[in-house]
Amino acid sequence: MKDAVIGQFLLVLIAAASATIQAVTTSTHSNQTDWLSLLEFKKAIILDPERALASWNESTHLCDWEGVSCRTRDPRRVVSLHLANLGLAGHISPWLGNLTFLRNLALPTNTFTGEIPSSLGRLRRLQTLFLSNNTLQGSIPTSLANCSSLKVLWLNNNGLDGQIPADLPPNLQQLQLSTNDIGGTIPPSIANATALRKLSCAFNRIEGRIPDELAELGGLEILYLGSNLLAGMFPPAILNLSSLTGLGFNTNMLSGEVPSDLGNSLPNLQILSLAQNLFHGKLPHSFVNASSLRVLDISTNNFTGVVPSSIGRLSKLVKLNIETNKVQARNKQEWDFVSSLANCTELQGLSLASNLLEGQVPNSLGNLSINLQYLFLGQNRLAGNFPSGIANFPNLIILGLDYNRFTGVVPHWLGAFKFLQKLSLSTNMFTGNIPSSLSNLSQLIELLDTNQFIGHIPISLGNLQSLETLSVSSNKLHGRVPEGIFSISTIREIGLSSNNLDGQLPAEVGNAKQLVILLLSANKLSGDIPSTMGACKSLEDIELDSNIFSGNIPVSFGNLFGLKVLNLSYNNLTGSVPASIGNLQHLEQLDLLFNHLEGKVPVHGIFKNATATHIDGNQGLCGGASNLHLPSCSVMSSYLSKHRLPVILKVAIPLACMLSLLAMVIFVLLWQRKNHLKTSISSLSFDGKFPKVSYKDLVRATDGFSLSNLIGTGRYSSVYRGKILQEENVVAVKVFCLETRGAQRSFIAECNALRNVRHRNLVRILTACSSIDSSGNDFKALVYEFMPGGDLHNLLYSTEDNDNSLKRSYISLAQRLSIVVGVADAMAYLHHNHHGSIVHCDLKPSNILLDNDMVAHVGDFALARLQVSSSFGDSTSVSSVAIRGTIGYVAPEYGAGGQVSTAADVYSFGVVLLEIFIRKSPTDGMFKDGLSIAKFAE
Ligand SMILES: *[C@@H]1O[C@H](CO)[C@@H](O)[C@H](O)[C@H]1NC(C)=O
Ligand SMILES: *[C@@H]1O[C@H](CO)[C@@H](O)[C@H](O)[C@H]1NC(C)=O
Ligand SMILES: *[C@@H]1O[C@H](CO)[C@@H](O)[C@H](O)[C@H]1NC(C)=O
Ligand SMILES: *[C@@H]1O[C@H](CO)[C@@H](O)[C@H](O)[C@H]1NC(C)=O
Ligand SMILES: *[C@@H]1O[C@H](CO)[C@@H](O)[C@H](O)[C@H]1NC(C)=O
Ligand SMILES: *[C@@H]1O[C@H](CO)[C@@H](O)[C@H](O)[C@H]1NC(C)=O
Repeated sequence: MKDAVIGQFLLVLIAAASATIQAVTTSTHSNQTDWLSLLEFKKAIILDPERALASWNESTHLCDWEGVSCRTRDPRRVVSLHLANLGLAGHISPWLGNLTFLRNLALPTNTFTGEIPSSLGRLRRLQTLFLSNNTLQGSIPTSLANCSSLKVLWLNNNGLDGQIPADLPPNLQQLQLSTNDIGGTIPPSIANATALRKLSCAFNRIEGRIPDELAELGGLEILYLGSNLLAGMFPPAILNLSSLTGLGFNTNMLSGEVPSDLGNSLPNLQILSLAQNLFHGKLPHSFVNASSLRVLDISTNNFTGVVPSSIGRLSKLVKLNIETNKVQARNKQEWDFVSSLANCTELQGLSLASNLLEGQVPNSLGNLSINLQYLFLGQNRLAGNFPSGIANFPNLIILGLDYNRFTGVVPHWLGAFKFLQKLSLSTNMFTGNIPSSLSNLSQLIELLDTNQFIGHIPISLGNLQSLETLSVSSNKLHGRVPEGIFSISTIREIGLSSNNLDGQLPAEVGNAKQLVILLLSANKLSGDIPSTMGACKSLEDIELDSNIFSGNIPVSFGNLFGLKVLNLSYNNLTGSVPASIGNLQHLEQLDLLFNHLEGKVPVHGIFKNATATHIDGNQGLCGGASNLHLPSCSVMSSYLSKHRLPVILKVAIPLACMLSLLAMVIFVLLWQRKNHLKTSISSLSFDGKFPKVSYKDLVRATDGFSLSNLIGTGRYSSVYRGKILQEENVVAVKVFCLETRGAQRSFIAECNALRNVRHRNLVRILTACSSIDSSGNDFKALVYEFMPGGDLHNLLYSTEDNDNSLKRSYISLAQRLSIVVGVADAMAYLHHNHHGSIVHCDLKPSNILLDNDMVAHVGDFALARLQVSSSFGDSTSVSSVAIRGTIGYVAPEYGAGGQVSTAADVYSFGVVLLEIFIRKSPTDGMFKDGLSIAKFAE
């Protein structure tokens, strides 16, 4: 509705403008129709940030205008209009339909909105039409079928809806519609476009069956229908398309068996993806006859059978992904395919994970390509020693052998694989020592848990200067916890539970400022819990239960503001429960069962919540919230001084202990199972994660953090523009000024807030870098998608030099609305997403960034808080983040010391909403003497 009104409004404007133009038409141009049409086109453009159309004026001949080409013959008519990647915003004027000689119209990668004008159907000479990467809406005009010369039609990456047109231009060769919102079914009449060679409709919501009529498109080379809602069987008609080089049916709901002669019928295939469907039946062996195949991905289906032993005929294979099927290999014959794979000399990625592979991996594995970078064999039933052939793959980046039955020792040579970033050996039966050579693998994530490793944890692991995760839980390790691992500046997770580690927990644990998870349960650790742990401000999960720690619970735990889980149960801790623990706002679970704690239990914070606080088995505790059912402190002290334990308790307490022990055993068993499930889901597999970056990469990307790349500075950080990897990815790099108080926390807050969220109106975090800079100081940075449109504050208040008078840039009503809607969408998602509620705490225009398409992205989560549950609300405890937002946007109740709440974000949103429309900042001088922005708007 609103679009229609705005559209009409624009039409009125256009009509008025054209009347003016016709009045002043001069005869300096050979063809007025073209001239007028282009001027109308320019008029409909409301934003031209690079002043690309500056040459479009009366003193220049229209054939010399930027992006315009004319034929050389007289009359010189316009044959091509090419304006790509210029940030142009506005509607595409219907007047373009008057450029009757136009052969090429290319406006990709701009911000054109509205519908594709149906007048383009009048362009009988048009051969190519590129409108990719805009924000066009509506459906594809049926009139385009009249463009009898049109060969190439690219409309991908827009917001088009409707359906694939039943009538296509008769000579169309390429139809590219991917990444839109197109629904409906594939029209059988598509068969009339007999010249079609490339058809891509991936990433839409096309449903129904794949029509048999496609068989008539004998010249089809590319058919990408991935990521839609297609159902039904694999259409046998496809087998007639012998020219196909690329076929993508992945991520649909296709079912049934795949035709057994697929590879014979499609001998030219280079890319075949059937991944993530519901296909079943035997793996077709005819694949091996499609000898040009480079990528074969049939993962996540229900294929059975064996990998053909002639797979080596696919000598050009780069990636072979069979993971998550029911493919078997139980005997020598069924394993034969491995020696055949040796013929695939270009192979870089191989995944056989999560299938029914059994027994020893053949030695011939070692004959695979030396280029192998990704090898996934996890979640099978593989046994025997660590496959020795792996020694021949020094370029490995990820190696997954997890969830198998491997035995024996882990070879020392693994330490020489300098590119290895992730090594998962967890849940096997590896024995022997953890090789100290692993300390040479500087960027590793090591998952070695649930094996039978013996001996000490190598002290040299402390040398791994970019280790993030060290997980060696559930082994048979003994000796001390090496203090060096706590000084690794990148370490986020340490899991050493369920071993036989003894001695004291080193005080150096306090060096691990960025440690999030520390799991030391079920060892034989003794002595005091180091009070230095209070310095590990990032900790969220501390599990020290089932050890023999003694002494008091450190009061400094009260400094761990982000703590969610604290488990100290089954130790010999004495003294009282520190009241400071009650101040931990995010604490969800507190477990102090079976220690020797005594005295008064605090009554605030977590202690109010009887289901989250476990304190049984401590005989000396009293008081506390009533639902904890502890004796009151006055009764307790007099009682203890006057009486010995009554007989009934002498029986009851040991009985209760036994029962709780039983309950705990059951709980632990269930918990372990749950954890296994959890890890197995996140088990290693191909997923196009953004690569890790080092400090050096970022220096290179930003020309040494040069001033010319600086695009903004904030309270805790500076933001640079940079180019990462092959100069293709423009990113924003936010470097935290760690000397500033609070910067460390804001880094962590931002990481945590953004780790699990994904929404089109949130700034996407690509990767993080936590390392040491060239002068040896801590260095922390986050890498985001670059937002070329700058921030909303700039858009609202920057002035542009127009005719020598400074003017604020024009923002249409539609644009303002779309920004508001985008921000509202993002906030709704943050507040109500399934990971819990995230409160942004600092919503304001300078934290709202705009991409090329003027789509708003909410960013800067430096003050964000994950809200645990609203029942936590404790009006007596003053929130530590109170009044830390920005004056003008922060809700008044924060000033009065209120809780962090989603309601406060809504307040800030309201201010931003008014500001977008009235273009006055809430701190503007005019808002004084009781006049607020809200009152003013009223
Ligand atoms: C422009 O070209 C069209 C089509 O050839 C023609 O009808 C028209 O007269 C031309 N106009 C001028 C001003 O040359
Ligand atoms: C050009 O196109 C517009 C809009 O499609 C139309 O109103 C106008 O009559 C056309 N003018 C000429 C000269 O063809
Ligand atoms: C659309 O944008 C992508 C990058 O996002 C680019 O690779 C592609 O070439 C663009 N398409 C066109 C037709 O310009
Ligand atoms: C192809 O076009 C003809 C008319 O041009 C039409 O009669 C026929 O139904 C079309 N074919 C399909 C499969 O729709
Ligand atoms: C595979 O088959 C099993 C039954 O054999 C079924 O439960 C499961 O959903 C199927 N999975 C897929 C991805 O088709
Ligand atoms: C190995 O690859 C070549 C092509 O490079 C092919 O001709 C041959 O048949 C393949 N050998 C096997 C055993 O698959």
